[in-house]
Amino acid sequence: MSYPYQVKSAEAYKQAWEQSVADPEAFWAEVAAHFIWQQKWDKVLEWNFEAPDVKWFVGGKLNISENCLDRHLEAGGDKAAIIWEPNDPKGKSRTITYKELYEQVCRFANVLKNNGVRKGDRVCIYMGMVPELAIALLACARVGAIHSVIFGGFSAKSIADRLQDAQAQFIITADGAYRGAKEIPLKGVIDDALEQCPFVKKVIVLLHTKTPVSMIKGRDVWWQDELEKAGVDCVAELMDAEDPLFILYTSGSTGKPKGVVHSCGGYMVYATYSFVNVFQYQPGDLFFCTADVGWITGHSYIVYGPLCAGATVLMFEGIPTWPDAGRFWDIVDKYKVNILYTAPTAIRSLMAYGTEPIAGHDLGSLKVLGSVGEPINEEAWHWFDKNIGKGKCPIVDTWWQTETGGIMISNLAGVTPAKPSYATLPLPGIQPMLVDEKGEEIEGNDVSGNLCIKFPWPSIIRTTYGDHERCRTTYFTAYPGTYFTGDGCYRDAEGNYRITGRVDDVLNVSGHRIGTAEVENAINMHEGVVESAVVGYPHDLKGQGIYAYVVYGNTHGDDELTRQDILQTVSRIIGPIAKPDKIQFVKGLPKTRSGKIMRRILRKIAEGDMQNLGDTTTLLDPQVVEDIKEGKV
Ligand code: WTA
Repeated sequence: MSYPYQVKSAEAYKQAWEQSVADPEAFWAEVAAHFIWQQKWDKVLEWNFEAPDVKWFVGGKLNISENCLDRHLEAGGDKAAIIWEPNDPKGKSRTITYKELYEQVCRFANVLKNNGVRKGDRVCIYMGMVPELAIALLACARVGAIHSVIFGGFSAKSIADRLQDAQAQFIITADGAYRGAKEIPLKGVIDDALEQCPFVKKVIVLLHTKTPVSMIKGRDVWWQDELEKAGVDCVAELMDAEDPLFILYTSGSTGKPKGVVHSCGGYMVYATYSFVNVFQYQPGDLFFCTADVGWITGHSYIVYGPLCAGATVLMFEGIPTWPDAGRFWDIVDKYKVNILYTAPTAIRSLMAYGTEPIAGHDLGSLKVLGSVGEPINEEAWHWFDKNIGKGKCPIVDTWWQTETGGIMISNLAGVTPAKPSYATLPLPGIQPMLVDEKGEEIEGNDVSGNLCIKFPWPSIIRTTYGDHERCRTTYFTAYPGTYFTGDGCYRDAEGNYRITGRVDDVLNVSGHRIGTAEVENAINMHEGVVESAVVGYPHDLKGQGIYAYVVYGNTHGDDELTRQDILQTVSRIIGPIAKPDKIQFVKGLPKTRSGKIMRRILRKIAEGDMQNLGDTTTLLDPQVVEDIKEGKV
């Protein structure tokens, strides 16, 4: 497969970007022409950011699964689509060609139909990193069902909240998942969630870990049994370009996660365009994205982007540090990985083991390295460059969000220059702007502000599921007429963008987005907790750690046990990923006279910056600050 829209020089990048701004419709029409449409669009773009209402490729009809599968069959049916490496290095790896993937997706799509799934239905997917996860996504897309993947680290309660919000009547899961030395009882967690979700009609369970599970008659069926009954042919459902493709829940600054909705047409075009350009993928390259499909990175750069591009992706079930910290490097050498896309938190955790686990590895197949999820600090950047890239692989630092669907700001590997800790330049089609507190655009260079995007791109969020008003107020009202990212940003003298982190109450813990309000809600559910305040603080491995100040009525004399109890509650309510790193019991929280918690002060104390707390005299009770300072953990 060739990519006529791949820009191959700095000059071509500049031209493409300028053309995309001067005439966005012509620009994207040209890119979209390289996909399979059952019916061409009537109009490239209709939009306003007030409602907001954004439509790309209006009137166009397609099915993304045909673009990921059918169209590669003739020329590349025997080419590997997915190479799967199991959690256990001694386990058997799998190679699935495009033809095999096509057949398996069609059959599983028929399983979905046989079980009552219809176009527009919401299907929740809760699985580990096995090829069947990709098959499940693509099969949903094939029948026009809207998938909503939930990351394996979320609790039963979190799953139930999401199932209820999406009114999902179907679930695809597995008996269990392996992650390093752990075995996660996925079906058991689903069973707990379903106690609160009587509307769920069918649960399809993949046999994988052979963990004992309860299967409820009439509701639960085995993936493998259902396949036996399913036909092999499945005509792809004709989807409107603007029909929803999936929902993916993500945290915001309120307690309730929101369901980000992406559309079929625009998402497909942008995920593929960004994949091909940022990583400079060449036919035959092996692309290894270490993200979990439970997050947007896995959706866009394990499944949809690479498969639409006819690429070969490596999917890994396990974690970087098990059975030892050389696991990634073993995999890179074993399969001769060419492009490695990972996260700063993984890099930092591997850095902590020193270079010994790298010794004895060749890593010579690597051509491009990538980073995503949080700002990459310079130390990690240089370590990655020197020890993994051996100084010869461009590193792309890719800034984007669940809501943006694809990479927005990044250097293009080997085409535009990298700058450590900078995402650098916007992709063609992306028009970033910085704004000050008053909402005025900050022009010129060497300036800082809040990052907004002033023009739609094809994979922009369309709505938050079931609550369009929430989408409007979260992203489109802070700075009317623009999409507000929630990130702060610096633009250097040359116009390179450097993301400085969230400016709202969202934490980024090991690249996972977690709302402080969500964690507070969970802590407050614990018996005896009066109230709590959660802030982030710099954490060597995780980027940000979670610091919780808790007003507790009665610690029954054992603070440590109470801490453990609270962690247990947070695990139950949200999931282990949201467990605070530090819990400090306090008598009271610093509040203004109007009752507002002064998080700024709590953040400073958590960071250990006691000197610069600013004016505390306006507080209802300034003494609480002194007490908190004394008891800092
Ligand atoms: C942060 C992940 C700095 C940012 C794809 C954003 C980054 C949030 C980078 C989105 C980067 C992501 N440099 N910060 N390269 N990439 N972020 O929705 O704060 O899980 O708003 O999407 O991660 O996280 P999300």
